[in-house]
Amino acid sequence: MRLVASQVTYRYPHGDHEVLTGVDFTVASGAAAAIVGPSGSGKTTLLSLMGRLLPMQHGAIHALDSTGRRRSLSETASWVLQTVSLLPDRTVLDNIALGAYSAGASRSEARTRSIECLSAVGLFGRENDPARILSGGEAQRVAIARALASDTPIILADEPTGQLDAQTSRKVLDALIGAHGERTVVIVTHDPEVAARCDTVLELRDGEIFEHLGGRA
Ligand SMILES: Nc1ncnc2c1ncn2[C@@H]1O[C@H](COP(=O)(O)OP(=O)(O)OP(=O)(O)O)[C@@H](O)[C@H]1O
Ligand SMILES: [Mg+2]
Repeated sequence: MRLVASQVTYRYPHGDHEVLTGVDFTVASGAAAAIVGPSGSGKTTLLSLMGRLLPMQHGAIHALDSTGRRRSLSETASWVLQTVSLLPDRTVLDNIALGAYSAGASRSEARTRSIECLSAVGLFGRENDPARILSGGEAQRVAIARALASDTPIILADEPTGQLDAQTSRKVLDALIGAHGERTVVIVTHDPEVAARCDTVLELRDGEIFEHLGGRA
């Protein structure tokens, strides 16, 4: 699924300035894009517009399938939010399986896929722990596993490795963008190592996007 943004402008209600001022970019199907830029530059805002968590005011962001047909972003994208939200009293496995259920998996498929995804983020053995006992970085990895389990063609992730050490961060990135595949991934990050593993780097500065090639391109 290809992502195309054109002339996206956004100002928060009661905001005193436009956070985004005419943003254009394309993320090719199966590519990984990093969104970088200083704190407050509008990265989460842009990702929220992509994921339809904020209403578009001006401009457009579309997902296009291989035939060029527009697909709904709310149906084709899953999210890893900057502030992780898990169901605290449900197990790690249940939290991840929600992703698989949302994709229409049966109970046994959901279980199998969830175990695969939790292993991919280094949490094998923790499946029966209640989510409330997890550390910040563990909870973040459960949120990533949930997005992987949902198997959507697009994943939008806001600082998914923000609370992880370098080694765990690499493992999680392997799971998210390890191989060139079908999945299109957009990752907001402050970590140059993460950006270097992406195909393209979208740098937000003063409301505009400056596009660079990433290390994987
Ligand atoms: N609900 C809101 N109402 C008004 N202004 C907001 C709102 N949310 C964010 N902003 C402002 O919009 C700007 C961009 O915020 P955003 O969260 O997109 O930044 P960011 O690049 O994700 O920053 P960080 O790296 O700190 O997460 C900031 O100046 C912020 O104060
Ligand atoms: Mg942010």
